[in-house]
Amino acid sequence: MIDVVFSVDVDFKSANVLVLVADETGKSFVSEKLKMFFGTEISKGISEECEELTYGKIKNFNLVFDGKIKNIIIAGAGSRNKFSRSSFEKLGGYILSQIKSSESKVCILSNCESADNEPIMAYLASGMMLKNWSFDKYKSDKVPAKLKKIECKTGYIQFNKDVFDGLLKIVDGVHTVREMVTEPANVMDPDKLLEEAKALKKLGIKITVLDKKDMEKQGMNALLGVAKGSDKPAYVIAMEYKTDETRPSVALVGKGLTFDSGGLCLKPAKGMGEMKGDMTGAAVVIGTLKTLALQQAKANVVGVIGVVENMISGSAQKPGDVVVAMSGKTIEVDNTDAEGRLVLADVLWYTKQKYAPEIVIDFATLTGAIQVALGHEFAGLFSNSDALCDDLQKSATVVGEKLWRLPLHSSYEDDIKSDIADIKNVGSGRGAGSITAALFLKHFVDPGARWAHIDIAATEWDNKDRALSQKGVTGFGVRLMNDFICNVCSKNGGRK
Ligand code: BES
Ligand code: MN
Ligand code: ZN
Repeated sequence: MIDVVFSVDVDFKSANVLVLVADETGKSFVSEKLKMFFGTEISKGISEECEELTYGKIKNFNLVFDGKIKNIIIAGAGSRNKFSRSSFEKLGGYILSQIKSSESKVCILSNCESADNEPIMAYLASGMMLKNWSFDKYKSDKVPAKLKKIECKTGYIQFNKDVFDGLLKIVDGVHTVREMVTEPANVMDPDKLLEEAKALKKLGIKITVLDKKDMEKQGMNALLGVAKGSDKPAYVIAMEYKTDETRPSVALVGKGLTFDSGGLCLKPAKGMGEMKGDMTGAAVVIGTLKTLALQQAKANVVGVIGVVENMISGSAQKPGDVVVAMSGKTIEVDNTDAEGRLVLADVLWYTKQKYAPEIVIDFATLTGAIQVALGHEFAGLFSNSDALCDDLQKSATVVGEKLWRLPLHSSYEDDIKSDIADIKNVGSGRGAGSITAALFLKHFVDPGARWAHIDIAATEWDNKDRALSQKGVTGFGVRLMNDFICNVCSKNGGRK
């Protein structure tokens, strides 16, 4: 457990890391603090070293105090007019990555506070907590914890404490997603994912589970077709968190492929293991509901996930098969590896029929093509509503989880026309793979609802460290959805 304390003074003597967070004018602040703790002579040379306090610039060195080594980290916070939650959370991440010793007790002092700006200590601590996550469950040699205690010196104790308490619940949701996604597919299978969803019950979330029989009754043949090749069960799981029915009804829909081998259109061996993460959309929905419930947020949300494994066997679906989706539309399965859209076709239609939400947002690791288009920085955003995109972009800016809108334009529609059925599940190979995937989904969405599809196939992970995550999973989406649902979405649009 990491102990995070906000107080008017800090216990420098017992700490082994001292962090000074200073804005671009903070040179005298840094030298004054170093002088206070270490005496004039040492501080003079060092403060000259710290001329530049531009945003993200970090100095890290050791000094001896009372016979013990103290690690000093000086972090530039840049210009005051660029201060934001996101800038301080990221700075917290940069600071954490500088801490080398384990079980550290960290003191943070800053010159960036003022009565009317943001609770920067809460943001810094939140960023440190986000960055601090790692997964060593299957390692015999456990990674030693970096943090034991963070002590933040602040003149606004209650303000920071209140904000931090909320952020901690969001961090919890992000960590839940990272854990679920990092688990290998032999552990995180459909039954285990169901267990994760059911764990939300104790937070007051209502769970409804559709098993194979229920899905057959509903006519969810697009989803069931994907499940045919697997020995494991498939589920549609609905999770309702409704504490304020006067708020707009939001459905969060998630792709929950616990493993995607590609089916008979088998993926190459290289990289196939990454497909344990093909349930990230479902994990983001679960993580978001968890954060909302922990915060006791006012919301009117249902999460609906399709949980399936895409495998090979004598009963696996074949390229060329035609399935009748729950909506009645017929789909030619031209490629068994374009399975996510088949699953979502029925989950989206079921969501519309059962819950008739005003706003639908789906999260899916849908296409490899989104990585080609946007890399790991921006998730692909597709929507039938400019207003919803504006609102989502507001949240994206606040939390620093970036979205880039791509065209959901009917001119690509020809690409998914089928000779034998109403539509086929892949484009004719003329590029724009993420767009044709989104257009496919559009066939199963209520045109009267505001809908956004967020393709997180590349933002859910990275092969290098990021500001707020280590190499591997990111948990992208929870912070975005939390801000959208709590602070942005309203009947008339715009921030609350
Ligand atoms: N789950 C994959 C998409 C994916 C790729 C996610 C890489 C994360 C990293 C999806 O089911 C898939 O296989 N899509 C195919 C679609 C193609 C057959 C039209 C793809 O992107 O290659
Ligand atoms: Mn696939
Ligand atoms: Zn997939």
